[in-house]
Amino acid sequence: MELKEVGTTGAMISEIGLGTWRYKGNAETLRAGIELGAALIDTAEGYYTEDVVGEAIKGIRDKVFIATKVSGRHLGYDDVLQSAEESLYKLDTDYIDLYQIHWPNPSYPIRATMRAMGELVDRGLVKFIGVSNFDIDEMEEAQSFLNNYQIVSNQVCYNLNDRSIERDLLPYCEERGITIFAYTPLDDGNLAKKERFIKSNRMKTLDEISQETGKTTGQVALNWCTSKKNVIAIPKSNSLERTVENCGASGWRLSPEQIRRLNDAF
Ligand SMILES: NC(=O)c1ccc[n+]([C@@H]2O[C@H](COP(=O)([O-])OP(=O)(O)OC[C@H]3O[C@@H](n4cnc5c(N)ncnc54)[C@H](OP(=O)(O)O)[C@@H]3O)[C@@H](O)[C@H]2O)c1
Repeated sequence: MELKEVGTTGAMISEIGLGTWRYKGNAETLRAGIELGAALIDTAEGYYTEDVVGEAIKGIRDKVFIATKVSGRHLGYDDVLQSAEESLYKLDTDYIDLYQIHWPNPSYPIRATMRAMGELVDRGLVKFIGVSNFDIDEMEEAQSFLNNYQIVSNQVCYNLNDRSIERDLLPYCEERGITIFAYTPLDDGNLAKKERFIKSNRMKTLDEISQETGKTTGQVALNWCTSKKNVIAIPKSNSLERTVENCGASGWRLSPEQIRRLNDAF
């Protein structure tokens, strides 16, 4: 499994992680992913999966990078601190590696939210601060209220069918060494479903490259995401078989020519 740096922190994590929104699998499946090198789990207070993540990391906490999120409805200063305490309890751990603001919410002054995020790092409860679904202006405003720490990541939708971040957010983050966590990297499974490949040209290209590389279409789609130097993909699967498959999206690279063909087709 290839590793990438989280922001410019020096901390290295796997380029494929395990997403847990709507996760219905068990702790063993997450554990199998960790053992295959996907030692990064993404969860959130709003997913109700922090408990199963806590179960999966029991006894191996220091080997896994845990990313969780405070809900966009809990962005008041005291709410952030309370949400973090509750996540720590559910995850059964004494620190969170990456604490992310799930969604921006203009109803809350971002200054107070960021003060609370900084406080959590000061107290040793959180290692790194991230955001999710923030545009560039929102990232800059949030950073301006964070005196001693950097926002190390932004978690946003990125896959072959949705390349909108390539317009500005992806280059902005790449220039500043900010990690992009690509959510919905399989387009909710659509990029990994054979039956959808029949008619469209874009899907035909994906299928061709799958055959050339001997990888599944899902693995090609994930490898395309992680071919960008600051992008980490966090697919979710309930099944052991598909978790193993998704972990196999790392450790090899699409050629520049294959990436160009995918970029042209999608
Ligand atoms: N920050 C945010 O606002 C936000 C929003 C959305 C998602 N996320 C994060 O990103 C993670 C992933 O995104 P996502 O769950 O929306 O979408 P995704 O990972 O693109 O797709 C998940 C879907 O694909 C299927 N799947 C997974 N691997 C497969 C494979 N190898 N072959 C065929 N089907 C496969 C899954 O079914 P099975 O489970 O049955 O395998 C599930 O239906 C989430 O779990 C969450 O951690 C964050």
